[in-house]
Amino acid sequence: MRVLSGVQPSGKLHLGNYLGAVKQHIELQDEDSALYFIANYHSLTTVQDAALLRQLTLDVALDYLALGLDPEKALLFRQSDVPEVTELAWILSTVTGKGLLERAHSYKDKTAKGITPSMGLMCYPLLMAADILIYRSDVVPVGKDQVQHIEMTQDMAGYFNNKFDCEVLARPEPKLNEAQIVPGVDGQKMSKSYGNTIDLFDTQKKTRKCIMSVKTDSTPVDDPKSPETCNVFALLKLMAEQDEVAEWANRYRQGGMGYGEAKGRVAELFEDVFGPARERREKLAADLDTVEDILSTAAAKARAIAQGVMHDVREACGLTVSTKGDR
Ligand code: ADP
Ligand code: TRP
Repeated sequence: MRVLSGVQPSGKLHLGNYLGAVKQHIELQDEDSALYFIANYHSLTTVQDAALLRQLTLDVALDYLALGLDPEKALLFRQSDVPEVTELAWILSTVTGKGLLERAHSYKDKTAKGITPSMGLMCYPLLMAADILIYRSDVVPVGKDQVQHIEMTQDMAGYFNNKFDCEVLARPEPKLNEAQIVPGVDGQKMSKSYGNTIDLFDTQKKTRKCIMSVKTDSTPVDDPKSPETCNVFALLKLMAEQDEVAEWANRYRQGGMGYGEAKGRVAELFEDVFGPARERREKLAADLDTVEDILSTAAAKARAIAQGVMHDVREACGLTVSTKGDR
């Protein structure tokens, strides 16, 4: 089974991104084939500053490697190092109705917000479909917001295969993460746009301060408390082992425990996982040649797969002289 996903380089990762997306990507690296790329072509629809795009791209690579992506198991590469995807996106655009792209939720949301769309924004799903189809990916782990794009990819594979009477493009399936919504320090969904994040790679001191600021009610220490409605407990549930979670639930209900103690434990659990990752990230950031090497070696392997599929695509639609003797 081939797993593939793309990650837009969009700045600092937070705990919601990790538990909602990155963790699953890293776990899936044990499948037969796992490909993850940094979607820098897609980012050009929003980031149009060369130095910034380079920095954000490198940040994703550092984040994934520090968090446990093993380059021996999974390919991690820049989308633009396989330029064949733009060729496939063009070919897909010729078999796809404009109406399909106009119906994309993410496109409609952005235009509804008053963003004047570029052609790139409108064609975003075509490039995403090309990303997936060019590696004959079986499974695409994504968040809920991306499922429609995968369904559009399935449609586009069908349009191409029908139009050219072939089975060249394989139908992918989305894989949704079961992880619940991670709450931010104010109790709303953790998101960059709400300014309520617990960032993965801040200093230990800053992170602890951030966790200590998680919003709680004002039940006195001695009184019983409700784990179900507490933001700190929600974080404990996401980070601690089940036995420990059950113990904390008892302690909440019994009373005699302050929220500060529970927050302290969240900070400890966070440090257990992300302290070592922070160190690995610092080491990698001081050795960018190695990081570049990992990205370019993976890109060469990914590109070889893509070129194989493109050979079949070009032949199926008549862009090359046929090797099947139908001249
Ligand atoms: P943000 O809302 O901070 O801008 P993104 O939309 O860039 O985050 O999300 C990137 C990935 O992280 C998506 O797959 C999304 O499902 C996941 N994710 C983001 N925030 C959360 C959260 N609070 N809980 C669970 N998953 C999240
Ligand atoms: N659109 C995805 C996002 O914003 C990123 C992405 C680009 C992607 N190409 C992809 C995800 C292909 C999965 C497969 O998160």
